[in-house]
Amino acid sequence: MPLLKVEGQVFEVEDGKRLILALEDSGLDVMHRCGGFAKCTTCRVKFIEGEPTRMTQAEFDRLKNTPDLLGQTRLACQIVCDHDMEVEPVIHLSNADVKSPGARPEKQITPKPVWIDRPIDL
Ligand code: FES
Repeated sequence: MPLLKVEGQVFEVEDGKRLILALEDSGLDVMHRCGGFAKCTTCRVKFIEGEPTRMTQAEFDRLKNTPDLLGQTRLACQIVCDHDMEVEPVIHLSNADVKSPGARPEKQITPKPVWIDRPIDL
């Protein structure tokens, strides 16, 4: 099972689990205001190690169309845990001015993923 390192803790994660669900199920108060559809960017994380070399087209489009995100952060709702990684969530519910993190994302990547290579010149 892949290892997920976050905020000084290490968790074993079910292979192929969505990163946003792995973070939330590990007890972290992460956000997912759009329910995991690559629309809101509240699930964004910074990669310390193990950044995936592929991304969904939906993630690329959202990051590209939001100032200062492409090349800086990734969307946890668009990533599957299929290898070891270390991340740092950018937004926590406890630091946001809303009461809910958003609807729980589905088990599968939504919208239906179209995988592309992450641009290497980011
Ligand atoms: S972009 Fe909204 S939950 Fe990921």
